[in-house]
Amino acid sequence: MKIIFQNNVPEFSLPLPIWSSIHLADAIGRDGEEFSVFVGLEKKYVEQLKQLSLDESDVDLQKYTGDKERFGLGSFEDWYRKNRTPFALFHKQSDALAALVWFGPSPLFSDENYWQTAAWRSYRPFRGKGIMRNFTQFAMEIYRSKFPDAKFWIALKRGNKGSAQLAADLDFEVLEEASDDFKVVMVR
Ligand SMILES: CC(C)(COP(=O)(O)OP(=O)(O)OC[C@H]1O[C@@H](n2cnc3c(N)ncnc32)[C@H](O)[C@@H]1OP(=O)(O)O)[C@@H](O)C(=O)NCCC(=O)NCCS
Repeated sequence: MKIIFQNNVPEFSLPLPIWSSIHLADAIGRDGEEFSVFVGLEKKYVEQLKQLSLDESDVDLQKYTGDKERFGLGSFEDWYRKNRTPFALFHKQSDALAALVWFGPSPLFSDENYWQTAAWRSYRPFRGKGIMRNFTQFAMEIYRSKFPDAKFWIALKRGNKGSAQLAADLDFEVLEEASDDFKVVMVR
């Protein structure tokens, strides 16, 4: 996916005030589909995120994430209060949330405050279409431009091949001492 930076993006610091967002870029998928990239999530999209997170037919999302509890049943405000910064990819034609990536200070490694938890999801019908590598790379670059010392870590359930491949594509490396039989911790 090709990402085209927006001109004249206003100065901002992260995290943004809740419910606000800034249009950072546009993107074109390999099928020619058009997307836009935002930091922050407006209220109307939080409702979309809630419905996507409750969707039991999305087997991989339910199997590999806690989003049903986090966004489906839980409160977005409570989550946002943990200094989370979401980056969203929207499909222009349908205004659908196609993918979400977020970062925020990590509860793990709490003695080293530069560790940032990373998380990523793509949503059907956009999953598996090659949108994630460049979108996630872009989001990490923007986040690091605001927090230059940030080091990212992600915990993946064992067997989550798509997420492991994406992490490897993004040069994350396995941290054996933090991994166990159920999860792989990867850092970058
Ligand atoms: C993990 C996830 C975000 C990856 O998104 P995606 O839309 O599949 O990403 P892409 O199409 O850009 O593919 C990324 C890479 O993973 C590979 N991949 C995707 N799904 C795969 C699978 N099931 N098995 C093996 N490789 C897979 C792709 O081939 C691609 O690799 P490449 O660049 O070397 O060709 C997506 O599968 C998802 O949202 N899954 C459900 C939620 C989840 O597991 N989130 C992560 C929790 S840690």
